[in-house]
Amino acid sequence: MNWTQKETSLLKDLKDQEQLCVDKYAEYAKRAHDPELKQLFEDIRRTEQEHLQTVTAWLGEQPPQAWDLVGDQYPGVNHLSNDPAAKEADKYLCQDALCTEKEVSGAYNTSIFEFRDPQVRRQLHQIQGAEQQHGEMIYQYMAKNGMYQAQ
Ligand SMILES: [Fe+2]
Ligand SMILES: [Fe+2]
Repeated sequence: MNWTQKETSLLKDLKDQEQLCVDKYAEYAKRAHDPELKQLFEDIRRTEQEHLQTVTAWLGEQPPQAWDLVGDQYPGVNHLSNDPAAKEADKYLCQDALCTEKEVSGAYNTSIFEFRDPQVRRQLHQIQGAEQQHGEMIYQYMAKNGMYQAQ
């Protein structure tokens, strides 16, 4: 693809953000106490990896290798949801992830307006929709577990 300077610079920012999402969800899948939350973070991480691959390919760079969290990278059941400190720690991870999704969704929204190619715009829009869906998944988990105070 032939990008303008502005498009290239936006793609680099999006790539950095997606890389951060992949790293963050991998880390949070490890740190979460509730096995359901671990799985949720791992599911989201996989789609962040796809976003990262899409944006990296647009930049004409070698896409990163896809990988799964397995074995000791992803310790199994460690159910401490009756432990208030564990639940508080999980809530913190959810709040932070939710902020990240808002931020990334905003970055896609800004970027969409700057791209010339209609097909690229559509793809950016699709990724933005996925980020909003991540936000919804996290919100649903928090609401179900009494972690979210409606105002
Ligand atoms: Fe993403
Ligand atoms: Fe996301």
